[in-house]
Amino acid sequence: MRSLIFTIANQKGGVGKTTTAVNLSAALAEKGVRTLLVDLDPQANATSAVGIEKREGASLYGPLRGEGTALEKIVPTAYNNLFLLPSEEDLAAAEIELAGAEGYLGRLKTALAPIKESGKYRAIVIDCPPSLGVLSMNSLAAADFLLIALQCEYLALEGLGQILRNLERIKQAGVNPTLELGGVVMTMYDVRTNLSRQVVEEVKQHLPGKVFDSVIPRTIRLSEAPSFGKTIFAYDPLSPGSSAYRSLAKEVIARFQLKSAS
Ligand SMILES: Nc1ncnc2c1ncn2[C@@H]1O[C@H](COP(=O)(O)OP(=O)(O)O)[C@@H](O)[C@H]1O
Ligand SMILES: [Mg+2]
Repeated sequence: MRSLIFTIANQKGGVGKTTTAVNLSAALAEKGVRTLLVDLDPQANATSAVGIEKREGASLYGPLRGEGTALEKIVPTAYNNLFLLPSEEDLAAAEIELAGAEGYLGRLKTALAPIKESGKYRAIVIDCPPSLGVLSMNSLAAADFLLIALQCEYLALEGLGQILRNLERIKQAGVNPTLELGGVVMTMYDVRTNLSRQVVEEVKQHLPGKVFDSVIPRTIRLSEAPSFGKTIFAYDPLSPGSSAYRSLAKEVIARFQLKSAS
């Protein structure tokens, strides 16, 4: 089965990218989709959120510089069907060292190509740093689909516009002409305010058919889970956050036919 690469990007920090990358990956894995979570943020929040210790030399830093392969960096997690390409601090150096180097935008694409071709993972989910630097641009160059994590907040549309312009730039520059907007995940939905509901409606009007029906509620359990090195399904399987990410995974499986035979 062909692998599909999804990148979860947004130049803003604190919008729920990592929470979504981790728990969407875990929910896909739980539903039987072999999933590789790629931690591309030097802060390594996704790595620790799935309970993996940071370890020097474990990240994509080497492979991005053409040293070693990405395949050999993959580690299993405590969860069935969920694998990780870890991050650690040295990845921050890649951001600086790669800038302007030969073919620097295509480095991740090249590094992930053998993994993609191996067909071992049906879904590859990349967690991006909170900037539009070299690493995030590499993820846009490598991905089949961009998934945007968007916080239900005032001026959400402005941030969205910025990401979409960047998507167009990547496509038009010929870096990744087939990159598509896969969908928008609305995060930190606050049921007590009208603002959240209004923001979701606005984004739906702006991007018909792209916003996932599964909206992620703001809940303390989702923010607690990573400090225990656990996904929401291991930490509190019956919580609203769990249901939301399970239902998102169901939509993602259907939208991208992750369980079809082709
Ligand atoms: N739905 C949510 N409800 C409550 N807290 C959340 C939710 N999603 C994320 N958080 C918390 O908000 C902070 C930022 O989320 P994170 O996923 O790390 O964002 P990003 O990766 O975009 O910087 C973290 O402390 C996280 O635990
Ligand atoms: Mg993050």
